[in-house]
Amino acid sequence: MEEKFNLIFLSLVLLNVAVDLECKVMHLSKDSNENNVIKMDIPDPLKSNDGDTSSGDKSCDISDNDRFDCFSDRGATQAKCEARGCCWKPASSNGIPYCFYPTDNEGYKVDSETLTEWGMTAKLSRSSKSHWPEDVMQLQLDVKYETASRLHFKIFDPNHARYEVPIETPQVNNKAHTTDYAVTISKQPFAITVTRKSTNQPVFDTKLNTPFIFANQYIEISTSLANKFVYGLGEHRSSFQLNTTWQTLAFWARDQPPTPNVNLYGDHPFFMSFDDIGNAYGVFLLNSNAMDISLQPKPAATYRTIGGILDFYIFLGPTPDDVIKQYQGTIGYPFMPPYWSLGFHLCRYGYKSSDDIRTVINRMQAGKFPYDAQWCDIDYMKDHLDWTYDADKFKDLPTIVKDLHDNGMHYVNIIDPGISSTQPKGSYKPYDDGLRQGVFVMKADGSGPIIGKVWPGNTAYPDFTNPTTIDYWYQSASDFHNQVPFDGLWTDMNEPSNFDVGSTEGCSTNPLDDPPFTPGIAGGRLADKTLCASSKHHTTTHYNVHSLYGHGEAIASNLALKKIRNKRPLVITRSSFPSTGRHAGHWLGDNNSGWNDLYYSIPGILNFNMFGIPLVGPDTCGFGGTTTEELCTRWMELAAFYPFMRNHNTIGAKDQDPAVFSPAAQDTMRDALMMRYNLLPHLYTLFYRAHINGSMVVRPLSFQYPKDKATYAIDKQFLWSNTLMISPVLEQGKTSVSAYLPRDTWFDYHSGVAVTGTGSWVTLNAPLNYINVHVRGGSIIPRQQADVTTTAARKNPFNLLVVLSANGKATGELYWDDGDTIDTTEHGVYNLIQFTAYNNTLQSRVQLANFHTSMVLGEVDVFGLLSKPSAVSVNGKSATFHFTENKVLSISVVPLSVDLQQSFTATWTL
Ligand code: NOJ
Repeated sequence: MEEKFNLIFLSLVLLNVAVDLECKVMHLSKDSNENNVIKMDIPDPLKSNDGDTSSGDKSCDISDNDRFDCFSDRGATQAKCEARGCCWKPASSNGIPYCFYPTDNEGYKVDSETLTEWGMTAKLSRSSKSHWPEDVMQLQLDVKYETASRLHFKIFDPNHARYEVPIETPQVNNKAHTTDYAVTISKQPFAITVTRKSTNQPVFDTKLNTPFIFANQYIEISTSLANKFVYGLGEHRSSFQLNTTWQTLAFWARDQPPTPNVNLYGDHPFFMSFDDIGNAYGVFLLNSNAMDISLQPKPAATYRTIGGILDFYIFLGPTPDDVIKQYQGTIGYPFMPPYWSLGFHLCRYGYKSSDDIRTVINRMQAGKFPYDAQWCDIDYMKDHLDWTYDADKFKDLPTIVKDLHDNGMHYVNIIDPGISSTQPKGSYKPYDDGLRQGVFVMKADGSGPIIGKVWPGNTAYPDFTNPTTIDYWYQSASDFHNQVPFDGLWTDMNEPSNFDVGSTEGCSTNPLDDPPFTPGIAGGRLADKTLCASSKHHTTTHYNVHSLYGHGEAIASNLALKKIRNKRPLVITRSSFPSTGRHAGHWLGDNNSGWNDLYYSIPGILNFNMFGIPLVGPDTCGFGGTTTEELCTRWMELAAFYPFMRNHNTIGAKDQDPAVFSPAAQDTMRDALMMRYNLLPHLYTLFYRAHINGSMVVRPLSFQYPKDKATYAIDKQFLWSNTLMISPVLEQGKTSVSAYLPRDTWFDYHSGVAVTGTGSWVTLNAPLNYINVHVRGGSIIPRQQADVTTTAARKNPFNLLVVLSANGKATGELYWDDGDTIDTTEHGVYNLIQFTAYNNTLQSRVQLANFHTSMVLGEVDVFGLLSKPSAVSVNGKSATFHFTENKVLSISVVPLSVDLQQSFTATWTL
């Protein structure tokens, strides 16, 4: 599958010749970009005295919320604004544009419309120029009715091929028979309206007081939104529900420690929204050029991208889960992680020697903490050179890795894309080979690799759009694997990061490095902290594929690992793009050891689950700064419920692995880890579902209860699928937590006590050694006795937690394979067991039993019974049980030798 993807990745880029290479040098009249992120045209009162007057024209009679910014570039003045034919009116509050489009905008008109077997196609043209250079005067619109709930439309230049994003998406040639949407095209000016048929409400509608612009380096299109409840649009640090009150978010992968609303490591131009009655829909713009998306309270969204084409997908849901499935069905379902990768990972930046690592491993093992993988940051490298290790300070690394393996554990090492270009010729194979094979990103003039600066000093950057680089990357990884047999790759700094601006020589002046419009990215210039946009990849310019760099590296690393280990790979990447989840997981980057960072980890993991990268977590206990015992305790308790759990911190900071804390804190952390390990069969099954159907492993409450508006803004609690609800303490010194209990049947996960959800806020006790977890009535959760590694735990008996709904029913399932073989789901080498409970009976149905192993059922716990049963039997044989004062029925199955690979029945008589 991935090999196929690669070919498509490469061939598509080849096909789509980028016009940018032909860009003419333009004289730019724009004011310089500042280091700002949010860019609205609020005039500087010191520089302009235009604020008092306003354009009097009738066509400027537009309410504040309906104003669309006509000066997305900076430095608006009345004169400049009116020179564009736009309206100028001061506004009362922040963010509202002073310079806005009038009601009568020209834009494009529709010249012809033709029905096709997949939908319709239309020719568009404009007769006058916009205020941006190089308008594309003729356009084509292709509307594809791909499925009943997925509409796909593209607007592009029919006369000149432009760059298109080379990710694999479904190719559909026939129109869906019935659709949940209707499409209306307005002819003059051109507008497209997509309406949900069942409610007659538009979900995408460009018929607004703003023109549609399609110039070579500036494409702008606005749509109204069905409501102000908007989620997604990454990678940014923000609350889960986005602020739609005049907020502009920028998209351009960047080495940027999480800062609110600033463009971070990845690029995900996808959002989901609710309409007034809780129907969900999604909008995805498949475009990798730098862009802004502005949200305004109309509510409306404006896209401004500086290249490529408009390639929109609209997903009609109607539930949030449907939208996610439809989105992930478009970009590709997440990869199936190796089982061990769901265990606890430990890392830090600043190990001084292999002895340091050994000390940490020893104290973790002595403390009997569940712990699966030890990681190493750039410290292990010789002078920070990729694919080397320091044979003095880290001389024991190979032995340590061997010992980890002997202990059923795994080892992951960091790799940065920057390959040192300054080592003596013949002494550093990764550079010499790369140079000889021509795999590096080149300077704009093609005279040699573009050189930036990262940890080892000057570096060249492998160009992952080049098929040769895939082999080169594999070979480099393989050579190193012969010395240090790593199990996973942590691909850092792959935005790609550069400590210089553009290159060691800067960037030349040209329309790619300094386009007529630069979105509101941090640093203000495309080249800031990265390569010159004009640098050349095998297929196109960096301008087009910059935000795909980490994605390309994730694919290459995944392929290399598969080939080297012949096992399921683990790649954790910092930079990502839609469809990266098919190849890698992600961590949320350089957070701090702060309570706020603890909170932001929740919207972070929810977002990436929407984006199809469910294997995600933050640096637990915080990366920068110094953690405290209280914070780290709370964080470890919460992290036990992240899909990916790694504790990592920065160089110079105090150790923060669980084993360094007080005995009480260690006990709490160990308990949290045990709880996670106990639940791993369930977590793994959720990953299986995401992998084969497209879904989120962790979900916000609002996605489970879309009709309950009180849940829409909740991002301090979250769910595992539709089973567990986690309500952590996120504030210092607190021993209680305010939690929303949706209208449903809930049970305290720890005690089994029933809690009635009435759709209200409650205060829950939460001493430092306790995290509130509730389980939803109706769930059956497969668990397994915890152990110090997943390798050991996988040999332990399973147990089932049956949590009855108000009407005494529950369902659940268990996916089980060897956790390491590649493509087990595709090849059917697994066991799938479905559980149902009703009428005082628990029944399992074995759907598939192709992985022959031992799966002993040790215990069944039932929540939700009102009275003690008089008898319990399993497969017709009487079973030992007890019934606690919290009304939990515990059935001891061990003596009855029940193998989960065969169907069984348990019955309790009331
Ligand atoms: C930046 C990464 O985000 C961080 O996790 C890592 O420790 C440093 N680079 C050093 O490699």
